[in-house]
Amino acid sequence: MTHIFLYGPPGTGKSTVGKILARNLKLPFIDLDRVIETKVGVSIPQIMQQRGEPAFRELESAALRSILDEKESVIALGGGALLNVENHEFAQEAGKVVLLMAELDTLFERLNESPKDRPLLVGDLRTQLSSMLARRSDHYNSFALRVQADGKSADENALEIGILLGRFHLSAMGEYDVMAGRLEQIGDLLLARGLQTPIIVTDENVAKFHFERVANALRKSCYEPKVISIPAGEEYKNLETVSGLWKSFLENGLDRKSTVIALGGGVIGDMTGFAASTYMRGINWVGVPTTLLSMVDASLGGKTGFDLPEGKNLIGAFHPPKLVLADTQLLTTLPETEFISGLAEVVKHGIISDPELFSLCSRGLAWIKSNMEEIVRRAMAVKIKIIEEDPYERGIRAALNLGHTVGHAVELVSGFELRHGEAVAIGMVAEAKYAEKIGLSSKGQSKAIEDVLCGLGLPVEIPKELPREELLRAMRRDKKKNANAIRFALPVEIGKVELVDVMDLEEVL
Ligand SMILES: NC(=O)c1ccc[n+]([C@@H]2O[C@H](COP(=O)([O-])OP(=O)(O)OC[C@H]3O[C@@H](n4cnc5c(N)ncnc54)[C@H](O)[C@@H]3O)[C@@H](O)[C@H]2O)c1
Repeated sequence: MTHIFLYGPPGTGKSTVGKILARNLKLPFIDLDRVIETKVGVSIPQIMQQRGEPAFRELESAALRSILDEKESVIALGGGALLNVENHEFAQEAGKVVLLMAELDTLFERLNESPKDRPLLVGDLRTQLSSMLARRSDHYNSFALRVQADGKSADENALEIGILLGRFHLSAMGEYDVMAGRLEQIGDLLLARGLQTPIIVTDENVAKFHFERVANALRKSCYEPKVISIPAGEEYKNLETVSGLWKSFLENGLDRKSTVIALGGGVIGDMTGFAASTYMRGINWVGVPTTLLSMVDASLGGKTGFDLPEGKNLIGAFHPPKLVLADTQLLTTLPETEFISGLAEVVKHGIISDPELFSLCSRGLAWIKSNMEEIVRRAMAVKIKIIEEDPYERGIRAALNLGHTVGHAVELVSGFELRHGEAVAIGMVAEAKYAEKIGLSSKGQSKAIEDVLCGLGLPVEIPKELPREELLRAMRRDKKKNANAIRFALPVEIGKVELVDVMDLEEVL
C-alpha cells in the first residue's frame, strides 16, 4: 500500500494540512496521535506523564504498524515518530514520506498558543524548540520530499504537497485521479479502480517505443491487454478513424465494462476519448499521455473529439477519463521539435497562474530536461486548478486560451507549417504586447515573455509572409468570438490573466 505520510517538527501543521490534502485527493485521513489516544483511552500528554516517553514511543510504533492494511490514506505522524530506524524504514516502504518544515519563529508562534499540549517542550518554549530542532536536524534533513510551510496557508501547503507528489484528484466533471508516475504502475492502478478488460489504442510511433512496457505492466496485474494501432498525425484525427475504432472495439468484443487506454499524444487522447464516449453510450477510458502537450494540457479536462475538413475539433464530447497517468520518462523518445512545441503550453501555464513555473522556464531547455518531473507536475497543477473551477468553459477556463486567438490564426494561415505550440508562442507575445499597449500590463512584460520563449527555441514573431487580412479573417472565425468583439485572455502580470473583449483586431496584430 502506498500511503502518504506527513512528518516534521511539532507546529508545522501536519494534521491540518493532512486533512486538507486527504480531502483534495479523496483519500481517508489518519492522525497517528489520535489512533494512539483512542487505543489507550487518554490524551498524549497524559500518556507521557503517566508512562513516560519510551512507553509512548512503543505505542507509537505499534500504531504505525496497525495502519499497514488500511486502504491508501494520508497519515499525519507525530514529530518524532520516525526517529526509530525501524519506523523510518517501515514508513518509507509503506508509502511516501513528506517532511513539512518551518523556521523556529513560525513554530514558536504556532505552538505558543497551546504549549500545554506539547509535553516534550516543557519549560521555555523557544529554548526547548530550538534545542529539539538542533538535536533532530540530521534526521529531518534526511528526508528528500520536503515542503517549507512558513508564510503559507494550510491550503497552499496541501496544494504544494500534491504537486510535489504529482497527485491530483478531479471531481468537477467525473471523479478521477491524475498522477505523475511510472508506466509500470498502470496494472495496479487499473485493478485498484476495478477497471476491466483493457484495450490499448495507440499510434504507430508510440507503439514502437512504449507499447510493450504498458502491456507488460498490465500482464503483471493479470490483464490480457489487446491493442489497436493507428497511423500517427493530425490528418488521421477524423471521423473515418473514429469509425474504425468503433469497429475494432466491436471486433475485439468490448462491452460496457471494458476500458480503453489512450497511449499517445493529444490526437490519440482526443479520438480515443471520443470513441469511448460514444461506444455503447459511453465506456471507461484511461489517459496515458506521451507528449509534453498532452501531459500538461490535452489529457486534462475531459474534452474529446475529432476534426472535420471545415475545421479542427468541431465534433466532440465531454467525457472524463477514469485515470490519467503521466510518465515523464516517455518524453525521452519524443522528437525535440514536439517537445519544444509542448513547452509553449508550459510557459503559458506559468503566465496564467504560476510565476514560479514561468521563472523555472527561464532557466532554459537543458535545465528543464533534467527537471522534467517538476515542470510537468507544476504545469498540470495550473490546468487542473482552472478546469476544476470551470469544467465546461463558462468563464475562467477561457484563460487557457492565452496566446491561442492569434495562435490559431497563425497556425491556420501558415497552412499548419507552424506547429501548434510555435503558433501559441507567437500568439502569446502578440497578445502580451497588446496588453501592454492598452495599459493592462506594465511595460516590459511582453519582453520578459518573449525572452523566455526565445530561450527555449520558440518563434515569437508573426512571419512577415502571412497576409494580415487572412489572419484577421481567421481570428474572426475563431470559435471564441463573442458578438462583434473577440474575447482574449490577456496577461495582466506573470501569474494573472484577464478576459478582455477586443473590437479592434488590427491593433492586436
Ligand atoms: N482535449 C483537449 O483539451 C486538447 C487540448 C490541447 C490540444 N488538444 C489536441 O491535441 C492534439 C495535439 O497533440 P500532440 O501535440 O500531443 O500531438 P500528437 O498526438 O499528434 O503527437 C505528436 C507526434 O509525436 C508522436 N509521439 C507522441 N508521443 C511520442 C513519444 N513519447 N515518443 C515518440 N513519438 C511520440 C506522435 O506519434 C505524433 O507523431 C491536437 O489535435 C489538439 O487539438 C486537445
